[in-house]
Amino acid sequence: MAITSTSALFISILLSLVLISSAQSCSKYTFPGNQAFNSCIDLPFLQANLHWNYIPSTRTVHIAYRANQTSTGWIAWAINPSGTGMVGSQALVALHNSNGSLTAYPTPITSYTTSLRPGALSFRVSNISATYADNQMSIFAVLGPLQNGTAVNHVWQAGNSVINDIPSNHATTGPNIQSMGTLNFLSG
Ligand code: HEM
Ligand SMILES: *[C@@H]1O[C@H](CO)[C@@H](O)[C@H](O)[C@H]1NC(C)=O
Ligand SMILES: *[C@@H]1O[C@H](CO)[C@@H](O)[C@H](O)[C@H]1NC(C)=O
Ligand SMILES: *[C@@H]1O[C@H](CO)[C@@H](O)[C@H](O)[C@H]1NC(C)=O
Ligand SMILES: *[C@@H]1O[C@H](CO)[C@@H](O)[C@H](O)[C@H]1NC(C)=O
Repeated sequence: MAITSTSALFISILLSLVLISSAQSCSKYTFPGNQAFNSCIDLPFLQANLHWNYIPSTRTVHIAYRANQTSTGWIAWAINPSGTGMVGSQALVALHNSNGSLTAYPTPITSYTTSLRPGALSFRVSNISATYADNQMSIFAVLGPLQNGTAVNHVWQAGNSVINDIPSNHATTGPNIQSMGTLNFLSG
């Protein structure tokens, strides 16, 4: 009995240390202006972070996806409501247009030969915007009301080439095919 509760205590202390240190790096980041996010995770691939605020009363989530990128590259973040990989993902992308302006828009991914043209997602998304500063591109958006709870499969990506103002393909080795996971907007 005593041994069991001691090790339970030890394990929970260890767990909270792990949780605290994994939250540290993204939680140190402050966005310019008055945008504050309560939750964030450092994503394990592609030098990326997801910050968010979940608002239970409206079941909406304000997200900011932030990743290292050069000014000529693109970034994307998506929820996949129907699976764990790329296909079926409901994505938000950001890139610099050929006229120099930064743009962000939604695009559903239907296949591995998808074109990332703007299109409607399977859930509501509004207030999409993007910023580029200090070699980091960020996408901001409001998602929801979320109809299927707060646990989601998500994927993220980056690529170096933009053709006719549309993101072109990404690398298909290493981190670029590992950039997927699950998260819960309610619990982190
Ligand atoms: C022009 C657009 C895109 C093309 C042509 C494309 C193509 C591909 C291909 C062919 C693969 C399979 C690689 C392999 O395993 O051999 C793949 C994997 C992957 N892609 Fe994309 N992709 C595009 C955009 C995106 C976007 C916008 C995202 C994220 C929002 C994304 C996320 C992923 C992920 C996470 C994988 C690995 C998991 C999986 O195979 O489903 N891709 N992509
Ligand atoms: C909720 O489920 C519906 C039906 O499967 C799907 O179309 C929609 O994209 C899902 N929403 C989210 C946020 O996953
Ligand atoms: C650049 O192009 C985009 C998309 O075509 C357009 O919405 C935007 O207004 C343009 N910006 C400038 C500064 O011309
Ligand atoms: C979305 O943007 C509009 C116009 O800028 C703003 O009035 C509104 O409060 C924003 N909505 C959310 C949920 O942030
Ligand atoms: C990613 O961007 C941050 C902020 O500019 C920078 O400190 C860091 O060195 C970058 N990482 C890499 C590997 O370029």
